[in-house]
Order: sequence, then structure tokens, then C-alpha cells
Amino acid sequence: MNQFQKFQSQYLEHFNDFLHQQLVQEIVQPQLQSSMLYSLDAGGKRIRPFLLLATVKSLQPQADLETYFKIAGSLELVHTYSLIHDDLPEMDNDDYRRGQLTNHKKFTPAQAVLAGDALLTQAFLWLTDNSLVPVLQSQLVWTLANAAGGQGMVAGQTIDIINTGKKLDLTQITTLDAQKTGALITAAVKMGALCTQADQEQLMHLQRFAQNFGVAFQIYDDILDVTSTEAKMGKKVGKDQAVGKNTYVSLLGLPSAQERLAAIVHQAHQELQAISLADSILAASLEYFD
Ligand code: IPE
Ligand code: IPE
Ligand code: MG
Ligand code: MG
Ligand code: MG
Repeated sequence: MNQFQKFQSQYLEHFNDFLHQQLVQEIVQPQLQSSMLYSLDAGGKRIRPFLLLATVKSLQPQADLETYFKIAGSLELVHTYSLIHDDLPEMDNDDYRRGQLTNHKKFTPAQAVLAGDALLTQAFLWLTDNSLVPVLQSQLVWTLANAAGGQGMVAGQTIDIINTGKKLDLTQITTLDAQKTGALITAAVKMGALCTQADQEQLMHLQRFAQNFGVAFQIYDDILDVTSTEAKMGKKVGKDQAVGKNTYVSLLGLPSAQERLAAIVHQAHQELQAISLADSILAASLEYFD
């Protein structure tokens, strides 16, 4: 177990309980509550919230991390919504997610859309209904909205959907990855840095670290689509090629995609080195790509 995994295992159960209890309290409409909890409680790697918490911990070792659970949780709410909508018949049309039936298969497409809507909106309540000072709250709201919406993830999902079956070039695929997946991951690290009042130099390098992490994360997901199994991933694999998704693997082939992934991960390391975080929990998070 590396340093990041140890850190995660220390807080994971508590964090997952927090997410669950919070929604149980807040969402009283029974169907809505169960459809939201169905996808949220199914697990997932929780990489985005833990990147936020790891950033806080790296910059401010003394911080009480539970203070930031709602902030970290907001990322998981947005991410879970994005997966529910990504799986819809009109989008990627998938039947399995996180080791169980997708939300629209378990419930209905209408209910899945609504569960996603409510998860997305609830995230912004969590960013404002907490003990942080209002200036910081509004910076967090701005950062998440900018990353998740039409200037970030949703723009990336649009490029993905409208170009499925058409061939994008490498620059276009990198933009696609940076928006659909990189934006939210970058927001996670940036929000952690904002919470700990990182200086401009730290913020700049952390942001570049996260941008590289984010693109790497999507490339690796695309690699796993051809190298991993449904049992390990908890979702169908081998589909990207079949449906004509634009990925590094489909454009360059597996070995070249792996080489480019390694170069991007190396760049992410360099950014941490520049601010003396080369031995941090954040650096250990990059071992995910090994
Ligand atoms: C899957 O995200 C979708 C991508 C952005 C590649 P994750 O790989 O983080 O999915 P979970 O949260 O672990 O299920
Ligand atoms: C999804 O990318 C990115 C999102 C913003 C949800 P994919 O479509 O490759 O994710 P999976 O493979 O279904 O998890
Ligand atoms: Mg997709
Ligand atoms: Mg998908
Ligand atoms: Mg995928």
C-alpha cells in the first residue's frame, strides 16, 4: 500500500458514511433519495475527493480533514451525477457501473436524470452550507461551477458525444480529455489549495500537476478499457473501439498510448518537485498509473 492508499484507507469509511448520512438527512423524497444513494453508495475510487483532502493534508498537515468532508463530498456528488448521465441510453448506453446495474436500469431513465440533477445541485449547497468563510465559499462555488459546466466537463462530454464515430486528432483528443475528465480533477486540487490558502507559486504548480493528472486519468481509463476486465472495473470494457470513441488508444495504439501516459505522469511529478512536494501523499497518488 502506498502513502496515498494508506491515507485514503484511514478516512474512507468515515467519508463514505458521511456522504450517506448527509444525503439521508437532506433528501426526504423517498424515490429520489434511494436513486441518489444507489449510485453514491456503490463506491468507486473516490479519487477526486481524496485528491482534495490530500492537497489539504500536504499543504497543512495539522488541518482537521473532517472540516473539509463537505467540500470533498461536493466533488463526488458532481462526479456521480456525471456517471449516471454518461451511462444513459442517449449517451454511452451502459448497463453496469460500479459493479451493479446502472441507475437507469435499476430505476428508469427519467429517475436517473433526476438523481443526477439533484446530485449536481446538492453539491453547490454543500459548498455554501458549511463553516468556511463566505469569501472562500464563493471561490469554491466558482471553481466547481467553472470545472463542471459548459466551460469544462459538460463541454468535454459534448465533444465526446458529437464526435463518436468520427476521427479527432491528438490535440483534439487531449482537449476532450482535459475537459471531460481533467477539469473536475483540476478543480479538486485547486479547491484543496484554496482551502489552505496556498500561495500563487504553489497554486500554479498544483494546478499543472492536476491538469496532467486529469488527462492521464482519462488516458488510463481508455487503456483499461482494452487491458482490464469487467470484473475488475465494475463496468463493461472493450466498448470504446467498438462504438468509435476518440481515445489515445484508438488513435495511436496501445504501446504509444502507454508511452504518452508515462510522459504526462512524469510531468505531473515535476510540478510537485517544483514546490517540494515530491515525497507527498499527492506524489504517491501518481502510483495509480503504474
Ligand atoms: C470514471 O471515473 C469516468 C472517468 C472520468 C474516466 P472513475 O474511474 O473515477 O470512476 P469511479 O468513481 O471509480 O467509479
Ligand atoms: C466519462 O468518460 C467522463 C465523464 C465525465 C463521466 P467515459 O465515458 O470514458 O467513462 P466510463 O468509461 O463510462 O466510466
Ligand atoms: Mg462517456
Ligand atoms: Mg461512459
Ligand atoms: Mg471509459
